[in-house]
Amino acid sequence: MGQMFQRVKGFQDILGDDCLYWQYAEDTIKAIFKQYSISEVRLPVLERTEVFNRGIGGTTDIVEKEMFTMDDSSGGGTLSLRPEATAGIVRAYIENGLYNPPILHRFYCIGPMFRKENPQKGRFRQFVQGDVEFLGSSSPLTDADIIGMLMSYFDKLGLGKFVKLELNSVGCPKCRPSYQKKLIDYFNGHAGEMCEDCNRRLERNPLRVLDCKQQKCREFIKNAPIMLDELCDECKEHFDNVQYYLGLLNVPFVINPLMVRGLDYYVRTAFEVVTDKLGAASAVGGGGRYDGLVETLGGPSTPGIGFAIGMDRVVALLKEVSTVEKLQPLVYVVTFGDKSLEEGLKVLTRLRSLGIVAEIDYAQKGLKNQMKKADRSGAKYAIIMGEDELARGVVSVRTMANSSQEEMSLENFYKLIKE
Ligand code: HAM
Repeated sequence: MGQMFQRVKGFQDILGDDCLYWQYAEDTIKAIFKQYSISEVRLPVLERTEVFNRGIGGTTDIVEKEMFTMDDSSGGGTLSLRPEATAGIVRAYIENGLYNPPILHRFYCIGPMFRKENPQKGRFRQFVQGDVEFLGSSSPLTDADIIGMLMSYFDKLGLGKFVKLELNSVGCPKCRPSYQKKLIDYFNGHAGEMCEDCNRRLERNPLRVLDCKQQKCREFIKNAPIMLDELCDECKEHFDNVQYYLGLLNVPFVINPLMVRGLDYYVRTAFEVVTDKLGAASAVGGGGRYDGLVETLGGPSTPGIGFAIGMDRVVALLKEVSTVEKLQPLVYVVTFGDKSLEEGLKVLTRLRSLGIVAEIDYAQKGLKNQMKKADRSGAKYAIIMGEDELARGVVSVRTMANSSQEEMSLENFYKLIKE
Protein backbone atom coordinates (compact mmCIF):
# COMPACT_ATOMS: atom_id res chain seq x y z
CA MET A 1 0.00 0.00 0.00
CA GLY A 2 1.11 3.52 -0.68
CA GLN A 3 0.83 6.47 1.64
CA MET A 4 -2.15 6.51 4.00
CA PHE A 5 -4.07 9.74 4.24
CA GLN A 6 -6.20 10.79 7.16
CA ARG A 7 -9.15 13.12 7.25
CA VAL A 8 -8.57 16.66 8.45
CA LYS A 9 -9.08 17.38 12.16
CA GLY A 10 -12.67 18.35 12.96
CA PHE A 11 -14.05 16.80 9.75
CA GLN A 12 -15.96 13.52 9.70
CA ASP A 13 -16.53 10.48 7.52
CA ILE A 14 -20.14 9.47 8.06
CA LEU A 15 -20.66 5.85 7.08
CA GLY A 16 -22.84 2.78 7.47
CA ASP A 17 -25.69 2.82 9.97
CA ASP A 18 -24.86 6.40 10.98
CA CYS A 19 -26.18 7.47 7.60
CA LEU A 20 -29.51 5.85 8.42
CA TYR A 21 -29.84 8.17 11.40
CA TRP A 22 -28.91 11.10 9.18
CA GLN A 23 -31.51 10.14 6.59
CA TYR A 24 -34.16 9.78 9.28
CA ALA A 25 -33.27 13.18 10.77
CA GLU A 26 -33.24 14.88 7.36
CA ASP A 27 -36.35 13.16 5.98
CA THR A 28 -38.27 14.13 9.11
CA ILE A 29 -37.27 17.78 8.96
CA LYS A 30 -38.06 17.98 5.26
CA ALA A 31 -41.52 16.54 5.96
CA ILE A 32 -42.10 19.32 8.49
CA PHE A 33 -40.92 22.00 6.06
CA LYS A 34 -43.30 20.60 3.49
CA GLN A 35 -46.15 20.72 5.97
CA TYR A 36 -45.43 24.40 6.58
CA SER A 37 -45.00 24.98 2.81
CA ILE A 38 -41.52 26.43 3.17
CA SER A 39 -39.44 26.61 -0.01
CA GLU A 40 -35.94 25.26 -0.27
CA VAL A 41 -32.95 27.38 -1.27
CA ARG A 42 -29.61 25.94 -2.32
CA LEU A 43 -26.88 28.49 -1.95
CA PRO A 44 -23.08 28.65 -2.26
CA VAL A 45 -20.96 27.48 0.67
CA LEU A 46 -18.58 30.32 -0.17
CA GLU A 47 -19.34 34.04 0.16
CA ARG A 48 -17.36 37.25 0.28
CA THR A 49 -16.02 37.47 3.83
CA GLU A 50 -17.65 40.87 4.13
CA VAL A 51 -21.12 39.25 4.05
CA PHE A 52 -20.29 37.49 7.34
CA ASN A 53 -18.30 40.36 8.87
CA ARG A 54 -21.19 42.70 8.45
CA GLY A 55 -23.96 40.16 8.90
CA ILE A 56 -22.80 38.20 11.94
CA GLY A 57 -20.69 40.99 13.44
CA GLY A 58 -16.96 41.74 13.46
CA THR A 59 -16.54 41.16 17.21
CA THR A 60 -18.19 37.74 17.41
CA ASP A 61 -16.08 34.61 18.00
CA ILE A 62 -17.28 33.26 14.66
CA VAL A 63 -15.92 36.18 12.65
CA GLU A 64 -12.93 36.93 14.87
CA LYS A 65 -11.43 33.47 14.89
CA GLU A 66 -13.55 30.72 13.40
CA MET A 67 -13.88 31.32 9.67
CA PHE A 68 -12.03 29.43 6.96
CA THR A 69 -10.91 32.37 4.86
CA MET A 70 -8.91 32.54 1.63
CA ASP A 71 -7.77 35.21 -0.78
CA ASP A 72 -9.96 35.86 -3.79
CA SER A 73 -7.37 35.72 -6.54
CA SER A 74 -9.75 37.11 -9.17
CA GLY A 75 -11.54 39.96 -7.43
CA GLY A 76 -9.31 40.98 -4.53
CA GLY A 77 -10.49 40.83 -0.93
CA THR A 78 -11.20 37.52 0.77
CA LEU A 79 -13.75 34.73 0.59
CA SER A 80 -14.96 32.57 3.48
CA LEU A 81 -16.67 29.22 3.83
CA ARG A 82 -20.06 29.88 5.38
CA PRO A 83 -20.06 29.51 9.16
CA GLU A 84 -23.87 29.73 9.14
CA ALA A 85 -26.66 30.14 6.61
CA THR A 86 -28.57 33.29 7.59
CA ALA A 87 -26.22 35.95 6.18
CA GLY A 88 -25.96 34.12 2.84
CA ILE A 89 -29.72 33.68 2.58
CA VAL A 90 -30.24 37.38 3.23
CA ARG A 91 -27.54 38.20 0.65
CA ALA A 92 -29.42 36.05 -1.89
CA TYR A 93 -32.80 37.55 -0.90
CA ILE A 94 -31.47 41.03 -1.65
CA GLU A 95 -29.47 40.08 -4.76
CA ASN A 96 -32.47 38.35 -6.33
CA GLY A 97 -34.81 41.23 -5.54
CA LEU A 98 -37.19 39.05 -3.53
CA TYR A 99 -38.21 42.02 -1.34
CA ASN A 100 -40.30 43.29 -4.23
CA PRO A 101 -43.24 42.97 -3.67
CA PRO A 102 -42.77 42.97 0.11
CA ILE A 103 -44.56 39.73 0.94
CA LEU A 104 -43.62 37.10 3.50
CA HIS A 105 -40.90 34.78 2.20
CA ARG A 106 -40.05 31.52 3.94
CA PHE A 107 -36.93 29.56 3.12
CA TYR A 108 -35.11 26.51 4.35
CA CYS A 109 -31.62 25.28 3.64
CA ILE A 110 -29.96 22.07 4.81
CA GLY A 111 -26.24 21.88 4.30
CA PRO A 112 -22.71 22.00 5.63
CA MET A 113 -21.35 24.94 7.61
CA PHE A 114 -17.72 25.50 8.58
CA ARG A 115 -16.24 26.87 11.79
CA LYS A 116 -12.65 26.57 12.94
CA GLU A 117 -13.61 25.60 16.49
CA ASN A 118 -11.75 23.26 18.81
CA PRO A 119 -13.20 19.88 17.89
CA GLN A 120 -14.81 17.90 20.72
CA LYS A 121 -17.91 15.79 21.29
CA GLY A 122 -20.71 17.40 19.26
CA ARG A 123 -18.46 20.19 17.96
CA PHE A 124 -16.98 19.87 14.48
CA ARG A 125 -15.33 22.08 11.91
CA GLN A 126 -17.73 20.93 9.23
CA PHE A 127 -21.25 20.37 10.52
CA VAL A 128 -24.72 20.39 9.04
CA GLN A 129 -27.44 22.87 9.88
CA GLY A 130 -31.12 22.63 9.08
CA ASP A 131 -31.84 26.33 8.72
CA VAL A 132 -35.09 28.25 8.33
CA GLU A 133 -35.63 31.95 7.66
CA PHE A 134 -38.89 33.91 7.50
CA LEU A 135 -38.44 37.34 5.91
CA GLY A 136 -41.08 40.05 5.89
CA SER A 137 -43.07 39.76 9.12
CA SER A 138 -42.54 41.55 12.41
CA SER A 139 -45.57 39.99 14.11
CA PRO A 140 -44.87 38.10 17.35
CA LEU A 141 -47.16 35.40 16.01
CA THR A 142 -44.44 34.64 13.45
CA ASP A 143 -41.95 34.13 16.28
CA ALA A 144 -44.29 31.76 18.10
CA ASP A 145 -45.19 29.78 14.99
CA ILE A 146 -41.58 29.29 13.86
CA ILE A 147 -40.57 28.23 17.39
CA GLY A 148 -43.53 25.86 17.49
CA MET A 149 -42.35 24.32 14.23
CA LEU A 150 -38.84 23.89 15.67
CA MET A 151 -40.16 22.11 18.74
CA SER A 152 -42.48 19.90 16.71
CA TYR A 153 -39.38 18.52 15.02
CA PHE A 154 -37.94 17.25 18.28
CA ASP A 155 -41.34 15.84 19.26
CA LYS A 156 -41.66 14.06 15.94
CA LEU A 157 -38.24 12.46 16.41
CA GLY A 158 -39.23 11.30 19.90
CA LEU A 159 -36.66 13.67 21.41
CA GLY A 160 -39.16 16.03 23.04
CA LYS A 161 -38.41 14.86 26.56
CA PHE A 162 -34.65 15.30 26.16
CA VAL A 163 -34.70 18.95 25.09
CA LYS A 164 -35.82 22.23 26.59
CA LEU A 165 -36.73 25.52 24.92
CA GLU A 166 -35.09 28.61 26.38
CA LEU A 167 -36.44 32.02 25.50
CA ASN A 168 -35.16 35.56 25.96
CA SER A 169 -35.42 39.02 24.49
CA VAL A 170 -32.21 40.87 23.63
CA GLY A 171 -33.99 44.18 23.03
CA CYS A 172 -33.49 46.49 20.08
CA PRO A 173 -31.17 49.35 19.04
CA LYS A 174 -33.43 51.67 21.02
CA CYS A 175 -33.23 49.97 24.42
CA ARG A 176 -30.06 47.88 24.23
CA PRO A 177 -27.37 50.62 24.36
CA SER A 178 -28.43 51.88 27.79
CA TYR A 179 -28.60 48.29 29.04
CA GLN A 180 -25.12 47.62 27.69
CA LYS A 181 -23.88 50.64 29.58
CA LYS A 182 -25.41 49.31 32.80
CA LEU A 183 -23.80 45.95 32.15
CA ILE A 184 -20.37 47.49 31.58
CA ASP A 185 -20.68 49.58 34.75
CA TYR A 186 -21.64 46.49 36.74
CA PHE A 187 -18.86 44.23 35.42
CA ASN A 188 -16.21 46.95 35.59
CA GLY A 189 -16.61 46.74 39.34
CA HIS A 190 -15.46 43.08 39.20
CA ALA A 191 -13.15 43.09 36.18
CA GLY A 192 -10.08 42.24 38.27
CA GLU A 193 -11.69 39.02 39.46
CA MET A 194 -12.98 37.88 36.07
CA CYS A 195 -11.25 35.92 33.29
CA GLU A 196 -9.22 37.44 30.49
CA ASP A 197 -11.83 36.58 27.86
CA CYS A 198 -14.51 38.39 29.84
CA ASN A 199 -12.32 41.46 30.16
CA ARG A 200 -11.81 41.48 26.41
CA ARG A 201 -15.51 40.92 25.76
CA LEU A 202 -16.41 43.68 28.17
CA GLU A 203 -14.64 46.10 25.88
CA ARG A 204 -15.70 44.70 22.54
CA ASN A 205 -19.01 42.88 22.99
CA PRO A 206 -20.31 43.21 26.57
CA LEU A 207 -23.41 41.01 26.15
CA ARG A 208 -21.15 38.04 25.43
CA VAL A 209 -19.81 38.18 28.99
CA LEU A 210 -23.12 36.66 30.11
CA ASP A 211 -22.19 33.53 28.16
CA CYS A 212 -18.91 32.84 30.02
CA LYS A 213 -18.75 29.32 31.47
CA GLN A 214 -15.94 29.94 34.01
CA GLN A 215 -17.00 29.44 37.61
CA LYS A 216 -15.33 32.63 38.92
CA CYS A 217 -17.17 34.71 36.30
CA ARG A 218 -20.53 32.94 36.83
CA GLU A 219 -20.48 34.26 40.41
CA PHE A 220 -20.82 37.80 39.10
CA ILE A 221 -22.92 36.99 36.07
CA LYS A 222 -25.76 35.58 38.16
CA ASN A 223 -26.37 38.99 39.78
CA ALA A 224 -25.80 41.07 36.63
CA PRO A 225 -28.52 43.41 35.35
CA ILE A 226 -30.69 41.69 32.74
CA MET A 227 -32.03 42.95 29.42
CA LEU A 228 -35.58 41.89 30.32
CA ASP A 229 -35.67 44.64 32.99
CA GLU A 230 -34.60 47.25 30.46
CA LEU A 231 -36.78 46.50 27.42
CA CYS A 232 -38.50 49.49 25.78
CA ASP A 233 -42.31 49.39 25.63
CA GLU A 234 -42.40 48.00 22.08
CA CYS A 235 -39.91 45.22 22.84
CA LYS A 236 -41.72 44.37 26.05
CA GLU A 237 -45.07 44.14 24.27
CA HIS A 238 -43.51 42.00 21.55
CA PHE A 239 -41.97 39.64 24.09
CA ASP A 240 -45.22 39.36 26.08
CA ASN A 241 -47.09 38.51 22.90
CA VAL A 242 -44.56 35.88 21.83
CA GLN A 243 -45.11 34.16 25.18
CA TYR A 244 -48.87 34.51 24.90
CA TYR A 245 -48.92 32.91 21.43
CA LEU A 246 -46.54 30.14 22.50
CA GLY A 247 -49.07 29.40 25.23
CA LEU A 248 -51.90 29.23 22.71
CA LEU A 249 -49.79 26.88 20.59
CA ASN A 250 -49.02 24.71 23.63
CA VAL A 251 -45.28 25.13 23.31
CA PRO A 252 -43.57 24.90 26.72
CA PHE A 253 -40.59 27.18 27.33
CA VAL A 254 -38.44 28.58 30.11
CA ILE A 255 -37.16 32.13 30.19
CA ASN A 256 -33.40 32.37 30.43
CA PRO A 257 -32.48 36.05 30.85
CA LEU A 258 -28.77 35.18 30.58
CA MET A 259 -29.07 33.51 27.19
CA VAL A 260 -27.36 35.69 24.60
CA ARG A 261 -26.68 34.27 21.18
CA GLY A 262 -23.24 34.17 19.60
CA LEU A 263 -24.24 36.29 16.59
CA ASP A 264 -24.79 40.04 16.64
CA TYR A 265 -27.76 40.40 14.30
CA TYR A 266 -30.42 39.48 16.84
CA VAL A 267 -33.06 41.87 18.13
CA ARG A 268 -35.94 41.06 20.47
CA THR A 269 -36.70 37.32 20.45
CA ALA A 270 -33.78 34.93 20.98
CA PHE A 271 -34.18 31.22 21.66
CA GLU A 272 -32.22 28.06 22.06
CA VAL A 273 -33.06 24.37 22.33
CA VAL A 274 -30.77 22.74 24.85
CA THR A 275 -30.11 19.23 26.10
CA ASP A 276 -28.04 17.84 28.95
CA LYS A 277 -27.28 14.64 27.04
CA LEU A 278 -24.37 15.88 24.92
CA GLY A 279 -21.87 17.26 27.41
CA ALA A 280 -20.60 20.75 26.72
CA ALA A 281 -22.29 20.91 23.31
CA SER A 282 -25.65 21.57 24.89
CA ALA A 283 -27.42 23.59 22.17
CA VAL A 284 -29.10 21.47 19.50
CA GLY A 285 -30.61 24.51 17.83
CA GLY A 286 -31.02 28.21 18.17
CA GLY A 287 -32.28 31.30 16.49
CA GLY A 288 -34.02 34.60 16.84
CA ARG A 289 -35.29 37.75 15.23
CA TYR A 290 -32.99 39.93 13.09
CA ASP A 291 -35.06 42.91 11.94
CA GLY A 292 -32.03 45.00 10.92
CA LEU A 293 -30.03 42.41 8.96
CA VAL A 294 -31.50 42.97 5.48
CA GLU A 295 -30.73 46.67 5.77
CA THR A 296 -27.23 46.01 7.13
CA LEU A 297 -26.49 43.93 4.03
CA GLY A 298 -27.77 46.62 1.67
CA GLY A 299 -31.48 45.84 1.19
CA PRO A 300 -34.61 47.69 2.22
CA SER A 301 -35.65 47.56 5.87
CA THR A 302 -37.24 44.11 6.26
CA PRO A 303 -37.97 42.17 9.45
CA GLY A 304 -36.74 38.60 9.70
CA ILE A 305 -36.62 35.66 12.05
CA GLY A 306 -35.13 32.18 11.79
CA PHE A 307 -33.34 29.33 13.45
CA ALA A 308 -30.80 26.63 12.72
CA ILE A 309 -30.78 23.09 14.04
CA GLY A 310 -27.43 21.38 14.56
CA MET A 311 -28.11 18.17 12.66
CA ASP A 312 -24.95 16.44 13.90
CA ARG A 313 -26.19 16.94 17.44
CA VAL A 314 -29.69 15.73 16.57
CA VAL A 315 -28.13 12.57 15.13
CA ALA A 316 -25.99 12.14 18.27
CA LEU A 317 -29.14 12.40 20.41
CA LEU A 318 -31.03 9.98 18.20
CA LYS A 319 -28.21 7.46 18.48
CA GLU A 320 -28.35 7.68 22.27
CA VAL A 321 -32.07 7.20 22.65
CA SER A 322 -33.42 5.30 19.65
CA THR A 323 -32.70 2.79 16.94
CA VAL A 324 -33.41 3.03 13.24
CA GLU A 325 -34.43 0.28 10.90
CA LYS A 326 -31.40 -1.23 9.18
CA LEU A 327 -31.13 -1.50 5.42
CA GLN A 328 -31.66 -5.18 4.67
CA PRO A 329 -33.40 -7.22 1.99
CA LEU A 330 -36.58 -9.14 2.68
CA VAL A 331 -35.66 -11.83 0.15
CA TYR A 332 -32.37 -13.31 -0.99
CA VAL A 333 -32.56 -15.19 -4.29
CA VAL A 334 -30.34 -18.28 -4.50
CA THR A 335 -29.68 -19.80 -7.93
CA PHE A 336 -27.46 -22.47 -9.53
CA GLY A 337 -26.63 -22.66 -13.25
CA ASP A 338 -28.18 -21.08 -16.33
CA LYS A 339 -31.81 -22.17 -16.13
CA SER A 340 -32.01 -21.43 -12.42
CA LEU A 341 -30.42 -17.99 -12.87
CA GLU A 342 -32.82 -17.17 -15.71
CA GLU A 343 -35.83 -17.94 -13.47
CA GLY A 344 -34.16 -16.31 -10.46
CA LEU A 345 -33.68 -13.03 -12.28
CA LYS A 346 -37.37 -13.06 -13.26
CA VAL A 347 -38.31 -13.47 -9.59
CA LEU A 348 -35.86 -10.74 -8.57
CA THR A 349 -37.30 -8.29 -11.11
CA ARG A 350 -40.86 -9.11 -10.13
CA LEU A 351 -40.12 -8.64 -6.41
CA ARG A 352 -38.45 -5.30 -7.04
CA SER A 353 -41.36 -4.10 -9.15
CA LEU A 354 -43.61 -4.98 -6.19
CA GLY A 355 -41.47 -2.66 -4.08
CA ILE A 356 -39.84 -5.53 -2.16
CA VAL A 357 -36.17 -5.26 -1.27
CA ALA A 358 -34.51 -8.29 -2.83
CA GLU A 359 -30.94 -9.29 -3.61
CA ILE A 360 -29.14 -11.97 -5.59
CA ASP A 361 -25.61 -13.30 -5.27
CA TYR A 362 -23.40 -12.02 -8.08
CA ALA A 363 -20.63 -14.58 -7.55
CA GLN A 364 -22.97 -17.55 -8.15
CA LYS A 365 -21.03 -20.03 -6.01
CA GLY A 366 -22.52 -23.15 -4.32
CA LEU A 367 -25.57 -23.43 -2.05
CA LYS A 368 -23.62 -23.26 1.23
CA ASN A 369 -21.77 -20.16 0.16
CA GLN A 370 -24.92 -18.38 -1.00
CA MET A 371 -26.84 -19.29 2.16
CA LYS A 372 -24.04 -17.77 4.19
CA LYS A 373 -24.37 -14.55 2.23
CA ALA A 374 -28.16 -14.65 2.57
CA ASP A 375 -27.71 -14.92 6.31
CA ARG A 376 -25.22 -12.07 6.44
CA SER A 377 -27.49 -9.85 4.37
CA GLY A 378 -30.12 -9.98 7.09
CA ALA A 379 -32.80 -11.20 4.66
CA LYS A 380 -35.90 -12.69 6.21
CA TYR A 381 -36.34 -15.30 3.46
CA ALA A 382 -34.09 -17.08 0.99
CA ILE A 383 -35.78 -18.40 -2.12
CA ILE A 384 -33.84 -21.34 -3.53
CA MET A 385 -34.35 -21.94 -7.23
CA GLY A 386 -33.12 -25.56 -7.57
CA GLU A 387 -33.39 -26.96 -11.12
CA ASP A 388 -35.23 -30.13 -10.12
CA GLU A 389 -37.66 -28.06 -8.05
CA LEU A 390 -38.20 -25.71 -11.00
CA ALA A 391 -38.94 -28.76 -13.16
CA ARG A 392 -41.69 -29.63 -10.64
CA GLY A 393 -43.00 -26.05 -10.70
CA VAL A 394 -41.98 -25.21 -7.13
CA VAL A 395 -39.27 -23.31 -5.23
CA SER A 396 -37.85 -23.82 -1.73
CA VAL A 397 -38.40 -20.94 0.66
CA ARG A 398 -36.26 -20.83 3.78
CA THR A 399 -37.18 -18.69 6.78
CA MET A 400 -33.74 -17.55 7.86
CA ALA A 401 -34.56 -16.98 11.53
CA ASN A 402 -35.36 -20.63 12.27
CA SER A 403 -33.92 -22.35 9.15
CA SER A 404 -37.26 -23.98 8.40
CA GLN A 405 -37.69 -24.68 4.71
CA GLU A 406 -40.81 -25.27 2.70
CA GLU A 407 -41.55 -26.06 -0.95
CA MET A 408 -44.26 -23.96 -2.55
CA SER A 409 -45.41 -22.71 -5.94
CA LEU A 410 -44.13 -19.27 -7.03
CA GLU A 411 -47.69 -18.02 -6.74
CA ASN A 412 -47.84 -18.98 -3.07
CA PHE A 413 -44.41 -17.47 -2.51
CA TYR A 414 -45.60 -14.08 -3.82
CA LYS A 415 -48.67 -14.37 -1.60
CA LEU A 416 -46.46 -15.04 1.44
CA ILE A 417 -44.21 -12.09 0.63
CA LYS A 418 -47.10 -9.69 0.16
CA GLU A 419 -48.35 -10.59 3.60
P1 HAM B 1 -25.87 29.05 16.04
O1 HAM B 1 -26.41 29.03 17.42
O2 HAM B 1 -24.51 29.59 15.84
O3 HAM B 1 -26.92 29.87 15.18
O4 HAM B 1 -25.92 27.60 15.44
C1 HAM B 1 -27.11 26.84 15.43
C2 HAM B 1 -26.83 25.41 15.85
O5 HAM B 1 -25.81 24.85 15.01
C3 HAM B 1 -26.27 25.26 17.24
O6 HAM B 1 -27.31 25.27 18.20
C4 HAM B 1 -25.60 23.92 17.16
O7 HAM B 1 -26.54 22.88 17.36
C5 HAM B 1 -25.12 23.86 15.73
N1 HAM B 1 -23.66 24.12 15.69
C6 HAM B 1 -23.04 25.31 15.75
N2 HAM B 1 -21.70 25.15 15.70
C7 HAM B 1 -21.47 23.82 15.61
C8 HAM B 1 -20.30 23.00 15.52
N3 HAM B 1 -19.08 23.53 15.49
N4 HAM B 1 -20.46 21.65 15.44
C9 HAM B 1 -21.69 21.09 15.46
N5 HAM B 1 -22.83 21.81 15.54
C10 HAM B 1 -22.73 23.16 15.61
C11 HAM B 1 -26.77 30.13 13.85
O8 HAM B 1 -25.94 29.62 13.15
C12 HAM B 1 -27.82 31.06 13.31
N6 HAM B 1 -27.54 31.28 11.89
C13 HAM B 1 -29.21 30.51 13.51
C14 HAM B 1 -30.25 31.41 12.95
C15 HAM B 1 -30.91 31.28 11.79
N7 HAM B 1 -30.67 32.55 13.50
C16 HAM B 1 -31.58 33.11 12.72
N8 HAM B 1 -31.72 32.36 11.65
